[in-house]
Amino acid sequence: MGCYRLVAARAATILLIVSVALLGFGCTSGRTTSQHEREPSETVIVAHRGGSLLAPENTLASFQNGIDEGADAIELDVHLSKDGQLIVMHDPSLYRTTGKEGYISDYTADEIKALDARSSYSGQLAWDEQRVPTLDEVMQLLSRQIRPVDVQIEIKVDQWGNRYEGIEQAVIAVLHRYGYIERAMIISFDFPTLLEVKELEPNLRLGALVSRAYLQSIGLKGPRVVAQSIADLDVEYVAINYAYLSPTLYSEFRSRGLGIGTWTVNNEKDIRRIAAMGVDFITSDRPDLLRQLLH
Ligand code: G3P
Ligand code: CA
Repeated sequence: MGCYRLVAARAATILLIVSVALLGFGCTSGRTTSQHEREPSETVIVAHRGGSLLAPENTLASFQNGIDEGADAIELDVHLSKDGQLIVMHDPSLYRTTGKEGYISDYTADEIKALDARSSYSGQLAWDEQRVPTLDEVMQLLSRQIRPVDVQIEIKVDQWGNRYEGIEQAVIAVLHRYGYIERAMIISFDFPTLLEVKELEPNLRLGALVSRAYLQSIGLKGPRVVAQSIADLDVEYVAINYAYLSPTLYSEFRSRGLGIGTWTVNNEKDIRRIAAMGVDFITSDRPDLLRQLLH
């Protein structure tokens, strides 16, 4: 009898140690490790601004072209116009892509839509005049596709670096209207924006954009600190400028359960190197080249 008690006590102790160890392991990042390394052929192809080396960026033509060239997802940037419409454009200033002086926030959507969005395009193909689209118009285009295409929506800040009031809510409303919550990822360099989106719509996937500016802002710390700072945001993905994605940083992100994407990868050597690491998605101005090299 005494022997049985001793065995039972030892078994209970071992069980407790194993449970605590498992709990501790599970709690290191505070999240599940659902993201996994991908074979290059599984890498999601994201057309950056629709694929801005192939067509005028952030236009309906570029998005359709990116999809036709085999993108699994399109990436676009949004701002708010003076009358509160979601305008798809990269810069807060109208000048680079339309030639018009002034900022998006100074004009109504109708005034902006009257502009031709080809100014920044220097690629080889000739394109007709292109309007600046609203997010609603891009969603209409996505809804018409014969295969499902995901969307990465980058929420930008204004010309002063401030958040547009209500932009997160406006984006979420459009995604709901088109039944696109599950096909969308919200990305931003502005992390308070991501936290606001999470608060308003927890079902949306979020991606924290990491640039050199961010790495400098946290004091050029080592991979472990960088990875933990992103994991602490409780986002599903990190999307980092590919120049800073070392194998060590990659492992630190993965060990915290983060999905990993990189931008903007446009040449063959870099595409092959980054894809071989096992990232979830690659964002490129050449979705055609990604398709050719990876699939
Ligand atoms: O997808 C991320 C990438 O778009 C971030 O850079 O400057 O092109 O918006 P940027
Ligand atoms: Ca962007």
